[in-house]
Amino acid sequence: MKKIQISPSILSADFSQLGNEIKRLEESGADLIHVDVMDGHFVPNITIGPPVIKTLRNYTSLPFDVHLMIAPVHKYIKNFAEAGSDIITIHPEATDDLKESIELIKHFKKKVGVSLNPNTEINIIKKYLNEIDLVLIMSVYPGFGGQKFLPEVIEKIKNLYQIKKDNKFKFDIEVDGGINFSNSKDVISAGANILVSGTTIFKENNGDIKKNIETLRSM
Ligand code: DX5
Ligand code: ZN
Repeated sequence: MKKIQISPSILSADFSQLGNEIKRLEESGADLIHVDVMDGHFVPNITIGPPVIKTLRNYTSLPFDVHLMIAPVHKYIKNFAEAGSDIITIHPEATDDLKESIELIKHFKKKVGVSLNPNTEINIIKKYLNEIDLVLIMSVYPGFGGQKFLPEVIEKIKNLYQIKKDNKFKFDIEVDGGINFSNSKDVISAGANILVSGTTIFKENNGDIKKNIETLRSM
Protein backbone atom coordinates (compact mmCIF):
# COMPACT_ATOMS: atom_id res chain seq x y z
CA MET A 1 0.00 0.00 0.00
CA LYS A 2 1.27 3.47 -0.81
CA LYS A 3 2.24 5.72 2.06
CA ILE A 4 -0.08 8.68 2.52
CA GLN A 5 1.55 11.87 3.71
CA ILE A 6 -0.27 14.61 5.59
CA SER A 7 0.69 18.24 5.08
CA PRO A 8 -1.23 20.39 7.58
CA SER A 9 -1.89 23.94 6.42
CA ILE A 10 -0.85 26.45 9.06
CA LEU A 11 -3.45 28.83 7.64
CA SER A 12 -5.82 27.40 10.26
CA ALA A 13 -3.27 27.55 13.10
CA ASP A 14 -3.13 30.19 15.82
CA PHE A 15 -1.02 32.87 14.09
CA SER A 16 0.08 34.35 17.42
CA GLN A 17 1.69 30.98 18.27
CA LEU A 18 2.98 29.77 14.92
CA GLY A 19 6.27 28.37 16.19
CA ASN A 20 4.56 26.30 18.87
CA GLU A 21 1.81 25.24 16.48
CA ILE A 22 4.44 23.85 14.11
CA LYS A 23 6.14 21.98 16.95
CA ARG A 24 2.78 20.56 17.90
CA LEU A 25 2.22 19.40 14.30
CA GLU A 26 5.56 17.63 14.25
CA GLU A 27 4.86 15.91 17.58
CA SER A 28 1.48 14.84 16.25
CA GLY A 29 2.88 13.00 13.24
CA ALA A 30 2.66 15.52 10.38
CA ASP A 31 4.88 14.66 7.40
CA LEU A 32 5.22 18.15 5.94
CA ILE A 33 4.22 21.68 6.90
CA HIS A 34 2.03 23.36 4.28
CA VAL A 35 2.62 27.12 4.18
CA ASP A 36 0.06 29.14 2.21
CA VAL A 37 1.54 32.36 0.88
CA MET A 38 -1.02 34.84 -0.48
CA ASP A 39 -0.50 38.32 -1.89
CA GLY A 40 -3.95 39.95 -2.10
CA HIS A 41 -3.51 40.09 -5.88
CA PHE A 42 -3.22 36.57 -7.31
CA VAL A 43 -5.75 35.58 -4.63
CA PRO A 44 -8.01 37.87 -2.58
CA ASN A 45 -6.24 37.32 0.75
CA ILE A 46 -2.88 38.19 2.32
CA THR A 47 -0.88 35.90 4.62
CA ILE A 48 2.83 35.63 5.33
CA GLY A 49 6.16 35.95 3.51
CA PRO A 50 9.82 34.87 3.63
CA PRO A 51 10.84 36.46 6.98
CA VAL A 52 8.15 34.51 8.81
CA ILE A 53 9.13 31.26 7.09
CA LYS A 54 12.75 31.93 8.05
CA THR A 55 11.96 32.27 11.76
CA LEU A 56 9.68 29.23 11.68
CA ARG A 57 12.57 27.17 10.30
CA ASN A 58 13.94 26.97 13.86
CA TYR A 59 10.87 25.17 15.17
CA THR A 60 10.88 21.98 13.12
CA SER A 61 12.99 19.75 10.92
CA LEU A 62 9.95 18.75 8.85
CA PRO A 63 10.03 19.87 5.21
CA PHE A 64 8.30 23.16 4.44
CA ASP A 65 5.78 22.63 1.64
CA VAL A 66 5.42 26.22 0.46
CA HIS A 67 2.41 27.01 -1.71
CA LEU A 68 2.94 30.33 -3.46
CA MET A 69 -0.27 32.11 -4.46
CA ILE A 70 1.51 35.27 -5.58
CA ALA A 71 2.05 36.93 -8.95
CA PRO A 72 4.43 37.58 -10.54
CA VAL A 73 6.03 34.72 -8.64
CA HIS A 74 9.35 34.40 -10.51
CA LYS A 75 11.26 37.23 -8.83
CA TYR A 76 10.37 35.97 -5.34
CA ILE A 77 11.49 32.36 -5.78
CA LYS A 78 14.99 33.22 -4.52
CA ASN A 79 13.61 34.77 -1.31
CA PHE A 80 11.45 31.74 -0.55
CA ALA A 81 14.30 29.34 -1.32
CA GLU A 82 16.67 31.23 0.98
CA ALA A 83 14.06 31.46 3.73
CA GLY A 84 14.15 27.66 4.08
CA SER A 85 11.43 26.25 1.82
CA ASP A 86 11.90 22.61 0.82
CA ILE A 87 9.16 22.32 -1.79
CA ILE A 88 8.24 25.44 -3.75
CA THR A 89 4.89 25.19 -5.51
CA ILE A 90 3.80 27.75 -8.06
CA HIS A 91 0.71 28.31 -10.21
CA PRO A 92 1.32 28.39 -14.00
CA GLU A 93 -0.88 31.50 -14.29
CA ALA A 94 1.45 33.37 -11.92
CA THR A 95 4.54 33.32 -14.13
CA ASP A 96 5.34 34.51 -17.66
CA ASP A 97 7.56 31.53 -18.28
CA LEU A 98 6.77 28.33 -16.39
CA LYS A 99 9.88 26.55 -17.69
CA GLU A 100 12.16 29.29 -16.44
CA SER A 101 10.49 29.35 -13.03
CA ILE A 102 10.78 25.56 -12.71
CA GLU A 103 14.46 25.81 -13.58
CA LEU A 104 15.00 28.56 -11.06
CA ILE A 105 13.48 26.50 -8.25
CA LYS A 106 15.78 23.62 -9.26
CA HIS A 107 18.74 25.97 -9.36
CA PHE A 108 18.19 26.54 -5.63
CA LYS A 109 18.02 22.75 -5.14
CA LYS A 110 14.42 22.81 -3.98
CA LYS A 111 11.66 20.42 -4.96
CA VAL A 112 9.40 21.80 -7.66
CA GLY A 113 5.64 21.81 -7.32
CA VAL A 114 3.12 23.09 -9.86
CA SER A 115 -0.45 23.76 -8.80
CA LEU A 116 -3.63 23.42 -10.85
CA ASN A 117 -6.68 25.47 -9.97
CA PRO A 118 -10.03 23.68 -10.32
CA ASN A 119 -10.47 25.20 -13.78
CA THR A 120 -6.87 24.72 -14.98
CA GLU A 121 -6.34 21.72 -17.28
CA ILE A 122 -3.61 19.12 -16.77
CA ASN A 123 -2.66 19.73 -20.39
CA ILE A 124 -0.96 23.02 -19.68
CA ILE A 125 1.71 21.32 -17.55
CA LYS A 126 1.91 18.05 -19.48
CA LYS A 127 5.30 18.69 -21.01
CA TYR A 128 6.84 19.42 -17.60
CA LEU A 129 5.54 16.34 -15.79
CA ASN A 130 8.81 14.45 -16.15
CA GLU A 131 10.81 17.23 -14.53
CA ILE A 132 8.71 18.27 -11.55
CA ASP A 133 8.45 16.67 -8.12
CA LEU A 134 4.85 17.40 -7.26
CA VAL A 135 1.51 18.39 -8.74
CA LEU A 136 -0.77 20.22 -6.31
CA ILE A 137 -4.37 19.78 -7.36
CA MET A 138 -6.59 22.48 -5.90
CA SER A 139 -9.96 21.17 -4.77
CA VAL A 140 -11.16 24.71 -3.94
CA TYR A 141 -10.40 28.05 -5.58
CA PRO A 142 -7.35 29.28 -3.66
CA GLY A 143 -7.58 32.18 -1.25
CA PHE A 144 -9.20 30.94 1.93
CA GLY A 145 -9.27 27.99 4.30
CA GLY A 146 -12.54 26.37 5.26
CA GLN A 147 -14.09 26.16 1.78
CA LYS A 148 -16.15 23.29 0.45
CA PHE A 149 -14.39 20.51 -1.49
CA LEU A 150 -15.24 20.48 -5.21
CA PRO A 151 -16.05 16.83 -6.05
CA GLU A 152 -15.47 17.28 -9.80
CA VAL A 153 -11.75 17.39 -8.99
CA ILE A 154 -11.75 13.63 -8.29
CA GLU A 155 -11.88 12.95 -12.03
CA LYS A 156 -8.87 15.19 -12.57
CA ILE A 157 -6.87 13.34 -9.88
CA LYS A 158 -7.72 10.04 -11.60
CA ASN A 159 -6.63 11.38 -14.98
CA LEU A 160 -3.37 12.68 -13.59
CA TYR A 161 -2.70 9.39 -11.79
CA GLN A 162 -3.28 7.51 -15.06
CA ILE A 163 -0.79 9.73 -16.87
CA LYS A 164 1.70 9.21 -14.05
CA LYS A 165 1.32 5.44 -14.21
CA ASP A 166 1.41 5.20 -18.01
CA ASN A 167 4.64 7.17 -18.19
CA LYS A 168 6.23 5.90 -14.96
CA PHE A 169 6.53 9.47 -13.75
CA LYS A 170 7.69 10.01 -10.19
CA PHE A 171 5.85 13.18 -9.11
CA ASP A 172 3.73 13.27 -5.98
CA ILE A 173 0.04 14.05 -6.27
CA GLU A 174 -1.03 16.44 -3.52
CA VAL A 175 -4.59 17.67 -3.06
CA ASP A 176 -5.48 20.92 -1.30
CA GLY A 177 -8.78 22.41 -0.14
CA GLY A 178 -11.77 21.21 1.83
CA ILE A 179 -10.28 17.79 2.67
CA ASN A 180 -12.27 16.11 5.44
CA PHE A 181 -12.92 12.66 6.91
CA SER A 182 -15.66 11.96 4.35
CA ASN A 183 -13.83 12.82 1.14
CA SER A 184 -10.23 11.82 1.97
CA LYS A 185 -10.86 8.19 1.06
CA ASP A 186 -12.03 9.11 -2.45
CA VAL A 187 -9.12 11.49 -2.91
CA ILE A 188 -6.63 8.77 -1.93
CA SER A 189 -8.31 6.10 -4.08
CA ALA A 190 -8.22 8.49 -7.03
CA GLY A 191 -4.41 8.58 -6.77
CA ALA A 192 -3.38 11.31 -4.33
CA ASN A 193 -0.49 10.52 -1.97
CA ILE A 194 -0.26 13.82 -0.06
CA LEU A 195 -3.24 15.49 1.59
CA VAL A 196 -3.23 19.12 2.67
CA SER A 197 -5.66 20.04 5.41
CA GLY A 198 -6.19 23.09 7.58
CA THR A 199 -9.70 23.15 8.99
CA THR A 200 -10.06 19.40 9.54
CA ILE A 201 -6.72 19.08 11.32
CA PHE A 202 -7.01 22.13 13.55
CA LYS A 203 -10.74 22.17 14.28
CA GLU A 204 -12.19 18.63 14.27
CA ASN A 205 -12.38 16.62 17.53
CA ASN A 206 -11.85 19.81 19.55
CA GLY A 207 -8.50 20.40 17.89
CA ASP A 208 -7.02 16.97 18.61
CA ILE A 209 -4.39 17.36 15.91
CA LYS A 210 -2.80 13.95 16.45
CA LYS A 211 -6.10 12.14 16.14
CA ASN A 212 -7.09 14.17 13.08
CA ILE A 213 -3.80 13.51 11.30
CA GLU A 214 -4.03 9.79 12.06
CA THR A 215 -7.64 9.62 10.93
CA LEU A 216 -6.96 11.38 7.64
CA ARG A 217 -3.97 9.16 6.94
CA SER A 218 -5.75 5.90 7.67
CA MET A 219 -8.79 6.54 5.45
C1 DX5 B 1 -6.42 27.56 0.00
C2 DX5 B 1 -5.15 26.99 0.58
C3 DX5 B 1 -5.35 25.70 1.31
C4 DX5 B 1 -6.34 25.77 2.43
C5 DX5 B 1 -6.56 24.44 3.09
O1 DX5 B 1 -6.11 28.67 -0.76
O2 DX5 B 1 -4.23 26.75 -0.43
O3 DX5 B 1 -4.10 25.19 1.74
O4 DX5 B 1 -5.98 26.69 3.39
O5 DX5 B 1 -7.42 24.63 4.14
P1 DX5 B 1 -8.78 23.81 4.34
O6 DX5 B 1 -8.34 22.42 4.68
O7 DX5 B 1 -9.43 24.53 5.45
O8 DX5 B 1 -9.54 23.88 3.05
ZN1 ZN C 1 -2.37 25.54 -0.02
